[in-house]
Amino acid sequence: MAYPPPLPAAGLPASDPAALLAAVLKANAHTEHPRLRQILDGLIRHLHAFALELDLTPAELDLGLDFLVRIGQASGPKKHEGILLADILGLATLVQLRGARHALAAGGTEPALVGPFWRANQPLRRHGECISSDDTPGPRLTVTGQVRSLDGTPIAGAWVETWQASPKGLYENQDPEQRHMNLRGRFETDREGRFSFVSVRPAGYPVPVDGPCGELLAAQGRHSMRPAHLHFLVVAPGHKVLATQFFDAEDPHALDDVVFGAVGSLLRRFEPDGAGGFTLDVELRLEPGETHIPHCPLP
Ligand code: BEZ
Ligand code: FE
Repeated sequence: MAYPPPLPAAGLPASDPAALLAAVLKANAHTEHPRLRQILDGLIRHLHAFALELDLTPAELDLGLDFLVRIGQASGPKKHEGILLADILGLATLVQLRGARHALAAGGTEPALVGPFWRANQPLRRHGECISSDDTPGPRLTVTGQVRSLDGTPIAGAWVETWQASPKGLYENQDPEQRHMNLRGRFETDREGRFSFVSVRPAGYPVPVDGPCGELLAAQGRHSMRPAHLHFLVVAPGHKVLATQFFDAEDPHALDDVVFGAVGSLLRRFEPDGAGGFTLDVELRLEPGETHIPHCPLP
């Protein structure tokens, strides 16, 4: 063979985006896992179309990649900037609502994003137990609920995880004044699928803005507030996991949630209990299916 070997007649056509896209898709064609191949194909096609449509410059790409690097650097066991990014772009809400579309058509409970504040090993509590420590000031909130399957059958033995911010708008892990696992708990439903607990009325709060997502919100001229809410994540055998939230309809941001989670049927009035506190009654309707427990963001 002659040395040096002859160069190929031509490389990729220099100014043919379609040929470049075809080459990148071809490089992906051997991805073994079929769904991963499909997802990567879609991502590649959309990224190329995006760059072309916007005439993205190298400087802009550099800035965007630096933003992604900083999202990673700002994330760790105690903070999830990546989750926050998916949330403030509406992607988490879109994916959840889309995944629940069949259940929603059949009367299932609307889902809402899990967010970055669910903790592993939340304490198992008794029916009716108070989840707020005595030193948490704020109006009492009594929560009652029932877990049912789509056809209305009560689900006994379901696990109901709940977590909420304090009346100051802080989760326990953000607030040195709160006790470990305050305003968090896990309940097991009784024979009628019911659970209940006593808590305090939560306040709305800003999502964390001390990282790159905060910069993004500022650049977009957006506020950072979530309306007051309680989170639920329900796990029952033979059913899809339901992650949802119920929102205080009287909150000033009830119709303007920074992460777009406060969808229609999840807005609720916290009813006065006649003794200075409030009540909230919820029904959680789960779709039969495979139980996939989402990744828990906090230890
Ligand atoms: C939350 O509700 O806990 C939450 C959701 C998205 C971003 C930040 C917080
Ligand atoms: Fe929250």
